[in-house]
Amino acid sequence: MLPVGIDKISFYTSNYYLDLRTLACAQGTDPEKYYVGIGQEKMGMPAHDEDVVTMAASAAYPLFEDEQSKHISTLLFATESGIDQSKSAGIYVHRLLGLNQNCRVVELKQACYSATAAVQMACALVARQPETSVLVIASDVAKYELDSPGEATQGCGAVAMLIKANPRILEIDAEVGNHTEDVMDFWRPNYLKTAIVDGKYSTKIYLQSLKKAWLNFTQASDLGFADLSHFCYHLPFSRMAQKAHKHLSRVNKSNLEPAQIEAQIADSLFYNKLIGNSYAAALFIGFISLLEKGSSDLGGKKIGFFSYGSGCVAEFFSGTVVAGYQQYLFKEQHQSMLESRQALDYEQYIVLYNTPDPQRGESVTIAEDSTGKFRLAGIANHKREYVAR
Ligand code: HMG
Repeated sequence: MLPVGIDKISFYTSNYYLDLRTLACAQGTDPEKYYVGIGQEKMGMPAHDEDVVTMAASAAYPLFEDEQSKHISTLLFATESGIDQSKSAGIYVHRLLGLNQNCRVVELKQACYSATAAVQMACALVARQPETSVLVIASDVAKYELDSPGEATQGCGAVAMLIKANPRILEIDAEVGNHTEDVMDFWRPNYLKTAIVDGKYSTKIYLQSLKKAWLNFTQASDLGFADLSHFCYHLPFSRMAQKAHKHLSRVNKSNLEPAQIEAQIADSLFYNKLIGNSYAAALFIGFISLLEKGSSDLGGKKIGFFSYGSGCVAEFFSGTVVAGYQQYLFKEQHQSMLESRQALDYEQYIVLYNTPDPQRGESVTIAEDSTGKFRLAGIANHKREYVAR
């Protein structure tokens, strides 16, 4: 069977961020709690004319510069901050990207896990029809109550991946380990704009699920802890991954030194520290960070991935980085996007946080505020109007 996996991968985040020092100062909290305690520096905030659709289309746009979009058989859109209960956000993206009308589109949800489900489903579809490609997009805005413990772990971002046979970035192994359990660690009822979270409990369940998914993985796969050179974790905040990886190394009675354990994940954390939690996109933005921020050649290396979605579903899977992957990355574009973002002061952050949400069908024109390729230009008669720049 042909290898299947990630052929191209790109991410996008908004042009605004709040430095967590600014948040700490407004709250009267020690900034070190955020910079050191949870390991986060900045959190992305969507502009007035930005949402999961515009971020998703902007993340996916670079993938098609030299790609025949007519070969995309399916677009899988993973999100937990969708804009409609019925219509898939992916259909707007399908039009904005000019995908062919024979391409099916569907939205998937299971908290931060859904992008991994989408990737596995995409691999299965491509294995069946190796001449086709599947576009997987994960796009989310992480929003918590003001002055809640979760506030500093907000963020936003989207990742787009082209899943193909003979991929040029990552060959994904078929063997996975799963763990599913009905728990209430984090959820968002339909009538709420912000998530409800039992923060400490959620970190405990994350670690328990890691162990259970890993043990299930070791039953399915021949790989052990020592076969994996680097690890990517779901990143609600970077300290969570550090704790998780130490936990996994203890579970496996690894004899690596603490610095070696840290080095297995360090490069995957850079982008998350600057963006914040991007829910379903976070694991794969961490993978891009590993590929783009690391100085060593990862070609031929085995990578372990831990995907966690509250509620909860967890999955451990693995893949091999393809030799020569460096030439297919969007490293310069990603780094210049992050460098050209604008810092918000606390008052500007509150204005963006409280962006009005027209709910009675009134017509609203939204001024240009974002800088990506696509924007939300207005809402009228309950219809969202997206345009390209
Ligand atoms: P908290 O309870 O306010 O923080 O919020 P804390 O008091 O536990 O402090 C955090 C750390 O900072 C601690 O370190 C402190 O010691 C340290 P630890 O004991 O953990 O090693 N600290 C300091 N360090 C240096 N200088 C200081 C200082 N002060 C304190 N001055 C909490 C933490 C995680 C609860 C909060 O951020 C939260 O509720 N976040 C949202 C939930 C979350 O992210 N959960 C993660 C697991 S669940 C998940 O990943 C799924 C999710 O992405 C959703 C989905 O699936 O869709 C969330």
